[in-house]
Amino acid sequence: MDAPLLKLLEFLRFPSISTDSAYANDVQRCAEWLVRELSDSGLDARLQTTPGHPVVIAKNQHKPGRRTVLIYGHYDVQPVDPLALWTHPPFEPHVEDGKIFARGATDNKGQILVHILGVRETLTHGDLPVNLIFLIEGEEECGSTHLDDFLAVHRDELKCDIVAVSDTGMIGRGIPTLTYGLRGIAAMEIKVTGPSGDLHSGIYGGAVANPLTELARLLATLHDDSGRVAVAGFYEGVEPVQGWEKNAWATLPQGEAEIRALTGSPELFGEAGFTTHERLWARPTAEINGIGGGYQGLGTKTVLPSEAFAKLTFRLVPNQQPEAVLENVKAHLRKHVSSAVRLEIMTGHSGEPYLMNPHSADGLAAQRALQKTFGRDVALIREGGSIPIVQTFKKILGADTLLLGLALPDCHAHAPNENFPIENFHAGIRLNQALLEELSGG
Ligand code: BES
Ligand code: ZN
Repeated sequence: MDAPLLKLLEFLRFPSISTDSAYANDVQRCAEWLVRELSDSGLDARLQTTPGHPVVIAKNQHKPGRRTVLIYGHYDVQPVDPLALWTHPPFEPHVEDGKIFARGATDNKGQILVHILGVRETLTHGDLPVNLIFLIEGEEECGSTHLDDFLAVHRDELKCDIVAVSDTGMIGRGIPTLTYGLRGIAAMEIKVTGPSGDLHSGIYGGAVANPLTELARLLATLHDDSGRVAVAGFYEGVEPVQGWEKNAWATLPQGEAEIRALTGSPELFGEAGFTTHERLWARPTAEINGIGGGYQGLGTKTVLPSEAFAKLTFRLVPNQQPEAVLENVKAHLRKHVSSAVRLEIMTGHSGEPYLMNPHSADGLAAQRALQKTFGRDVALIREGGSIPIVQTFKKILGADTLLLGLALPDCHAHAPNENFPIENFHAGIRLNQALLEELSGG
């Protein structure tokens, strides 16, 4: 195993799960490891505390006349459950079939480490062609809670010409991909309460509303039968997909058959009147991420539960504002809930959508770097996932973000057996070097 790969294994062994406070110490140790690696690479690196998990900052010596590039990534990972479905323990990285399996392998440890190692390699032979800033956070998977404030406070220090991020995907193996749009997100949790305590469903069932039934009824009102979100005002301001995008997406090597096979779903389903790529990348959605309540154990328990809950997220596209969407959804839920139960609504994290011009000078520079690294024409796509901080970079730092993803469609991000191909890991190191060269304008 080569030195870069051994470094990745070290990085992957930290269970840096940001959403679960039981792992706070591991998150901290992971950030400290990064500071050491960045320092060993020849950068001036430090840990910056926040009210949540620490941010790692590293820089080379900035020189006048050079462009400044900020590379962003995250060292936190998603929880591992359901643990039983992993073929190897998630924090004991395992190499098989040219891929490395571990939680965080793709999202985002493998993809941020290629930039660190690319920079390390360049610095062993000479100087970087740009002024560089690494900003690596530990709260991306729980909504980058403290990063907006951090950016606002450190805006002068973080001032840059362009941001580069590898935390998205490639449309297929070996196909260089530039992502020029991301959906935004707005999260909400709802609780429906009926009787003041659990009841015997034989003694009271039929005379008292069941919170689980009422929750299911309420959630079913979020969509109409054609797959459209039925919340009043939800689509306000949503922009149509541009002609050039439709053409570009129609010729992509990954079409509906591949997406169906990848998901294992019996058939694809979505808003009527749109292609699958449009539904995924350019149309907003309402998703139920979890439903809970009642008896979950073995066998039968004849209980009429006192409460039920659901976790919802809405994916947003340009010109939708998270706050407005959440207000519209609240009004919808309050209007449709049965008066036989009480409804509580808790709003969660949110982030705006992002769209940039892939034909801008920096967009073209990114395309050249991708082309050079992979030796093929670059696919231009948007993606359905969210990296909320990217729009904040635009707002606070005034800089666009180039999304040069290295994840493959079957990477199992956020799921059991997450993996990252070793060939993408090595290509990523070369991509970092080509990218900084192209962005330097030299
Ligand atoms: N790397 C993903 C975002 C992503 C995935 C973008 C695939 C494009 C394609 C990131 O780590 C992530 O999972 N983001 C969350 C954001 C949320 C927790 C605020 C997401 O999209 O669910
Ligand atoms: Zn993620």
